[in-house]
Amino acid sequence: MKQAGPIAVFDSGYGGLTVLDKIRHHLPQYDYIYLGDNARTPYGTRSFEVVYEYTLEAVKKLFDMGAHLVILACNTASAKALRNIQQKDLPLIDPERRVLGVIRPSIEMVDQLSKSKHVGVLGTVGTVQSESYPIEINKLFPEVVVTQEACPMWVPLVENNEFKKEGADYFVDQHIKRILTKDSLIDTLILGCTHYPLLMDKIRKHLPDAINVVEQGDIVGESLKDYLMRHPEMEKKCSKGGTVHFYTTEQTKKFKQTAGIFFEGELNVEHVVL
Ligand code: DGL
Repeated sequence: MKQAGPIAVFDSGYGGLTVLDKIRHHLPQYDYIYLGDNARTPYGTRSFEVVYEYTLEAVKKLFDMGAHLVILACNTASAKALRNIQQKDLPLIDPERRVLGVIRPSIEMVDQLSKSKHVGVLGTVGTVQSESYPIEINKLFPEVVVTQEACPMWVPLVENNEFKKEGADYFVDQHIKRILTKDSLIDTLILGCTHYPLLMDKIRKHLPDAINVVEQGDIVGESLKDYLMRHPEMEKKCSKGGTVHFYTTEQTKKFKQTAGIFFEGELNVEHVVL
């Protein structure tokens, strides 16, 4: 058997740290590497081809670093690159390695959560335009009505550490109002972007209490735990030392400063070129 390696978590930038944090909470025993493509973020406004190319480069790098399992924490990458990578690239690169995304686990519970069967999805422009959420939800639950809203200002608010300030209320309120105007029967709202949990206080402030909010971190953590139980051959290939190492395509100093918004504790960061 090949040498065991860390579980890799990939994001276009810092947002995936919210997912990594929750994954480690559910599965603290494993080693992890996190790669943020901070030099090329945001992915949310880029074309399908570019997001695919960048994501594939990152996946290959993480495989070279020893990971057998890569989690695309980024919704935009999951929406635009995952299927191609799974179907076209993995069989050529190494059919025994796996790349998993965050969209599928995030939608599996919507049928149980939503009584009205009207679900809203908030995401980047790229995620919304890909239609991945409505397609995946309707594959499992054809009766669910899905309404989407792109929130292009929300990622910059978080990346620029403005998300707790008053100015953020305007943009949060604007998109919440818009999606509820598009469909007033929505009773469940999926935060389909890694950055949005950081805006949770503001989202809850502007959203009627009766509406459920689906946050991905815990769901992805639980789903990964379940995946590893169902795939003992992969579980054996995930090393267990409880460590975490961070890699960024940006300068490490900048990464450390901004990652502090998302992740508590000392960060061990190295620069990589993709
Ligand atoms: N990480 C991305 C996502 O979850 C948002 C940031 C970006 O646009 O790169 O969709």
